[in-house]
Amino acid sequence: ASTSQVRIYEVGPRDGLQNESKLVPTDVKVELIHKLAEAGLKDIESASFVSPKWVKQMADGKDVMNTIKRVPGVNYPVLVPNLKGYSIARQCNAEEVAIFPAGSEGFSQKNLNCSVEEGLRRFKEVADQAVKDGVRVRGYVSCVVGCPYDGPVSPKAIAKITEDLLSMGCYEVSLGDTIGVGTAGSVQRLLREVLTVAKPEQLALHFHDTYGQGLSNLLAGLEFGITTVDSSISGLGGCPYARGASGNLATEDLVYFLYGLGVNTDLDLVKLVEAGRYISNFLGKPTESKVNRALSDR
Ligand code: HMG
Ligand code: MG
Repeated sequence: ASTSQVRIYEVGPRDGLQNESKLVPTDVKVELIHKLAEAGLKDIESASFVSPKWVKQMADGKDVMNTIKRVPGVNYPVLVPNLKGYSIARQCNAEEVAIFPAGSEGFSQKNLNCSVEEGLRRFKEVADQAVKDGVRVRGYVSCVVGCPYDGPVSPKAIAKITEDLLSMGCYEVSLGDTIGVGTAGSVQRLLREVLTVAKPEQLALHFHDTYGQGLSNLLAGLEFGITTVDSSISGLGGCPYARGASGNLATEDLVYFLYGLGVNTDLDLVKLVEAGRYISNFLGKPTESKVNRALSDR
């Protein structure tokens, strides 16, 4: 890789848990967030203020945000779909919000109940307000390679949405392979296009590991100079509106991988493994992180 430092943006408490059918109590979410901060993570997406009718697991976001002990220097962003979610985020003093238009019509309808264009209009309202309030805004584009409803997605369409998000004031756009169908080749084709409208430092890579391509996709992305990567502790995750999508790239696997490249992350892998075990034990299922498994077996 062409970089010596990577920023890891942890999405476990949000993307990781949102798809779990077993309701995770607020205190377990809070404890998980504390453990992640203790392991050295500096960006921990902690909740989403979406409709509780749509995603029940995230319904206690306000309690989570009001209960966590915020460590100075750690960023606790939250996902918001509209102004209503934004105002709840503000009530609990979120300093960063994430907006998330879809890269395809089919997924936009299922995930946001509106077209891509209407989604962008609503997200612009959120971004405009956040910029006025001095709240940082992160953008996601979902289904950047493929959509569970529409099939392959064109890199040009993703570049256009990325450009829109940057012009709304997003400091960064995270490119989400929501269903994990990407390969090193399709990721390269995507990035060649998106990098015509964005600088590498304005982008983040968000891979789901459905087809086991997470790390090779990441390596392909790092070659373009991108230095922010989203991952989820223990490889938790999936999207309720993308059937079959498995977890995100696991934070433990990512840290081990970067260590091998000599890339610094300032994270404590032993503490990450403990955090991963904590949440996997609670959910009563084996970890999705191979590195966690390997280190736990010793
Ligand atoms: P809708 O039903 O069309 O919305 O949903 P509505 O405006 O008609 O409102 C319906 C009801 O929801 C109303 O309540 C609203 O007040 C309420 P009622 O009057 O019926 O009692 N409502 C809300 N309540 C709390 N917070 C809110 C909120 N908004 C409306 N913010 C909506 C439209 C966008 C709200 C819905 O579709 C939704 O919540 N979608 C979010 C789905 C979601 O969270 N998906 C997972 C996250 S995306 C993801 O994981 C991908 C990502 O990781 C990247 C990647 O992997 O690529 C980011
Ligand atoms: Mg995701």
